[in-house]
Amino acid sequence: MPKYTVVTMPGDGIGNQVLPESLRVLKAVGFDADYIHADIGWDCWCNQGNALPDRTIDLLTKHKLGLFGAITSKPNKAAQAELKPELQGKGHVYYSPIVTMRQKFNLDICMRPCIGFIGNPLNYIRKKTDGGVEEPQINTTIFRQGTEGMYAGVEWTNPPENVRATLNSHPRFKAFANVPGPDLAVSVRVITRAAARRIITAAFEYAKKKKFKAVTICEKPNVLRETSGLMEEVAKEVHKSYPEIQLWSTNIDAQLMWLNKNPEDYNVVVASNLFGDILSDAFAGLVGGLGFAASGNIGDDVAVFEPTHGSAPKYAELNPPIVNPVAMILSAAMMVEYVGEADKSDRIKKAVAAVVKEGKVRTYDMMRISGGAKSISQGAASTTQMADAIQAKL
Ligand code: NAI
Ligand code: MG
Repeated sequence: MPKYTVVTMPGDGIGNQVLPESLRVLKAVGFDADYIHADIGWDCWCNQGNALPDRTIDLLTKHKLGLFGAITSKPNKAAQAELKPELQGKGHVYYSPIVTMRQKFNLDICMRPCIGFIGNPLNYIRKKTDGGVEEPQINTTIFRQGTEGMYAGVEWTNPPENVRATLNSHPRFKAFANVPGPDLAVSVRVITRAAARRIITAAFEYAKKKKFKAVTICEKPNVLRETSGLMEEVAKEVHKSYPEIQLWSTNIDAQLMWLNKNPEDYNVVVASNLFGDILSDAFAGLVGGLGFAASGNIGDDVAVFEPTHGSAPKYAELNPPIVNPVAMILSAAMMVEYVGEADKSDRIKKAVAAVVKEGKVRTYDMMRISGGAKSISQGAASTTQMADAIQAKL
């Protein structure tokens, strides 16, 4: 019997191209697992009216470990239009399956490492005062709260009367009191103390394990006094248990500006859902972009690992596939570390590092050329060639 069972959810578009490559790498490193395929994504929505089918939920409930590729999401109107005719008008509402999955299994710790590989031509460089350039070594992990905040899904266009009445009772809502319902959209930013404590504690635990000197809480408490205020308050409280680590506090807008100044100073950054989403893409841009951005969605019981990127539909039909499998492979490596096999995880990361450093095999994104059918003839490696090179290092 293999030691682990992993539920694999390639999903849509390039998810189907990168996930199988990560499985080949897992095999090559000797990760002892069985893999069970589960459906998720746009086809499930169109044909079943549900992008996250019950069977997939059941498999995750049972096996507790998932690898996910990517899904396609579309706005409400487009989603309704693509629903198969017999399901239309039956009250099906499209919800992003990954957001639903995070909420259903309480995958509230979203961990997104943005760590630069030496030799990656996409790494951030900075001008020095003497006119030369330098390439700071960026090693940042974003801890993004995964289940609440702006993505809690509590929102309305044309809020119902009781909600409208409650909003009207807030003095600040006077300015909007006369806006007609259909012209008014409201999203509620929900932050709970318990979830804030969990994500902030996860950030401090990680900083302690990796011996980083500081954790940065990145919010906007001067304006979002209640919600960001609570995040800050909890950060200060959790910090008391980690006196050896500093607590830094930045505002989301200023933090993004500082990415151009001193990104290497930030090793661990913790934020609520939307801000964490923005931060992780922004930091990922400094270390190679979406082709390098891995993530884990970790709950008490279940964990699902996925690249940060989406389904990139414009590349999904290309044969051979051209997208970079590294983000997916690093996500698989995170899964391996999560189950306690840090040595195998390190071997995967070292293999990726060796291929990047050597610089002989590069997908189109690493060559700064535009992606498309022509990329291969321009010298770019295919998705499979990139994964082959990584495997060869194992
Ligand atoms: P995307 O991440 O799919 O692609 C944006 C661009 O990034 C691509 O066009 C490509 O240039 C580049 N890119 C992405 N992955 C790459 C890779 N592995 N290698 C090289 N280049 C890569 O985001 P986009 O275009 O905004 O969304 C496409 C679809 O994906 C939408 O339906 C969106 O809702 C969905 N999405 C799903 C996510 C998920 O499954 N977690 C996350 C983000 C978007
Ligand atoms: Mg994102």
